[in-house]
Amino acid sequence: METVPKAVFESAYAGQAPWEIGRPQRAFVEAAAQVQGSILDAGCGTGDISLFFAERGHKVTGIDYLAEPIARAKRKAAERGLSANFLVVDALALANLPEMFDSAVDSGLFHVFSDSDRSRYVAGLASVIKPGGRLYLQCFSDAEPGTQGPRRISRAELAAAFADGWTIESISPVRFEVRPDLQDLNFSEGGPHAWFVVVRREA
Ligand SMILES: C[S@@+](CC[C@H](N)C(=O)[O-])C[C@H]1O[C@@H](n2cnc3c(N)ncnc32)[C@H](O)[C@@H]1O
Repeated sequence: METVPKAVFESAYAGQAPWEIGRPQRAFVEAAAQVQGSILDAGCGTGDISLFFAERGHKVTGIDYLAEPIARAKRKAAERGLSANFLVVDALALANLPEMFDSAVDSGLFHVFSDSDRSRYVAGLASVIKPGGRLYLQCFSDAEPGTQGPRRISRAELAAAFADGWTIESISPVRFEVRPDLQDLNFSEGGPHAWFVVVRREA
């Protein structure tokens, strides 16, 4: 399976993207008390998860490879009087970031990559998450039927992706929240099935 082309995201951000629900995905809110220190939000989109953690007092850097969602995220931060660092950066070049983070969050990025880009992405995460730090990741799961939207990920694929240098602490079934006003989405009742994964970077 190929990496989702950039043009797909550019066209999604020509309007309001299906994942722009105006608040953080529920699983990140429920995990918030566990999340420690400085945070990298990889594929932050328009920044709702970044700003949620900024409001809780974390130092947050949100990255996305498109200028449009980063501009929207900056506008939201200004409107809400919150401070977060939003950068246009490719998540396949994380090693270029000048900083390391205590934690990283990924809502909906991991599942856009081909197998080889997934390996590059995870290697990049290993270079920017401090030893002992954690990644909190939400991706589509293979419990979601059909092919609309991103590729489905199995538990075995998660285990393989984080086999070297990481410990998977938990993999929990959750749901992605999508815009309720979109009629042409054919996802499961209650939202697309997803995994919420907590992974620790080994020291
Ligand atoms: C499904 S959206 C999720 C956005 C946000 N995390 C959220 O939960 O609303 C995936 C995001 O990843 C971004 N993205 C895709 N590939 C990327 C890459 N290689 N580097 C950085 N961002 C990327 C897209 O532009 C898009 O904003």
